[in-house]
Amino acid sequence: MRAVRRSRTFTTMKAALATAYGGPDVIRIAEVPTPSPKKNEVLIRIHASAVNAADWRLRRANPWFVRLIFGLLKPRRAILGVVFAGEVVETGTDVTKYKKGDRLFGWTSIMGLGGHAEYIALKENGAFTRMPDAMSYTDAAAIPFGFGTARHFLAKAKVTSGQRVLIYGASGAVGSAAVQLARAMGAEVTGVCSTRNVELVRSLGATEVLDYTKDDLSAHRDRYDMVFETVGKLPFAECVKLVKPNGVIITGSEMPGQMLKRAFSGTGGKKVAVIGGTAAESAVDMQYLAEMWQQKAIHTVIDSTFPLARIKEAHVVAESGRKVGSVVVTI
Ligand SMILES: NC(=O)c1ccc[n+]([C@@H]2O[C@H](COP(=O)([O-])OP(=O)(O)OC[C@H]3O[C@@H](n4cnc5c(N)ncnc54)[C@H](OP(=O)(O)O)[C@@H]3O)[C@@H](O)[C@H]2O)c1
Repeated sequence: MRAVRRSRTFTTMKAALATAYGGPDVIRIAEVPTPSPKKNEVLIRIHASAVNAADWRLRRANPWFVRLIFGLLKPRRAILGVVFAGEVVETGTDVTKYKKGDRLFGWTSIMGLGGHAEYIALKENGAFTRMPDAMSYTDAAAIPFGFGTARHFLAKAKVTSGQRVLIYGASGAVGSAAVQLARAMGAEVTGVCSTRNVELVRSLGATEVLDYTKDDLSAHRDRYDMVFETVGKLPFAECVKLVKPNGVIITGSEMPGQMLKRAFSGTGGKKVAVIGGTAAESAVDMQYLAEMWQQKAIHTVIDSTFPLARIKEAHVVAESGRKVGSVVVTI
């Protein structure tokens, strides 16, 4: 039974549906029923979301085990979108944390998805928080995926002031956030990117920027307390060479094949700690990031913005492997 009375204006909504696995062409805009908030849920009018690596990977069923979790032959959840920024329009009868009119941003959740739509119903204790007054919906949608992931891994790695941290893939959503957050945690940051992104990465706070198309990384052996590989392009053996003995390697972008290879190849006798796995979706991290944004300690990096009607183009850019920061969708 519904916990609140529905306004007729909310009965249907526009959403981007991916009802089959495949390329960007599987996505279509359709009119679907608006979800009803349960007693402990808020109904949010989404104003912006983002197309992230998680979205195109789920759409492609890449890696293969996506099918085991999200549907063997076709996706069980057709509306993608792991992040959102929007406004509360209804509250369930048991909701105490938020009220109508609150502006929220954060994760919809990787298991629940649903961010590429006009409305979503989420449990009030989900991994989201209030937006600072001055934050735009576009900025808010560009924070959870890249910054949330970077925050998770850097906090887990316990970055301390003065440590030398190398961020590989410093121009991506996770990498551009990691440069800023590691710097804010007091680290001396080296960013690795291509020529076109050198100035951007420097502007994000990297003390040193290496251009992977020109610079010889082997000249930087045993130099870093921490190596954060954010794009899955630098082989683990190369990360091992760059990190100091007893240093930390973060492998948040590792695919199953790479994980297997790492398990067999080892570290050649060098003692290193490896941090990997899936980033937690956390409301506390969202609050931390909202505060950091308010203090101007972090800035969003937005590659491009598309209206929901052009979300296929957003998927093409996100999947290109060349986007700079985030691709935002306005809804
Ligand atoms: N473990 C988790 O929970 C978790 C969470 C989030 C994301 N991830 C994974 O993390 C990965 C990165 O996601 P993302 O959204 O940050 O990626 P992204 O934004 O798509 O990364 C694109 C950036 O990488 C740069 N790049 C491409 N090739 C490169 C290379 N060889 N060396 C260095 N930089 C290169 C590109 O610029 P140029 O082409 O100009 O170099 C571009 O700016 C994805 O595989 C995603 O699945 C994992």
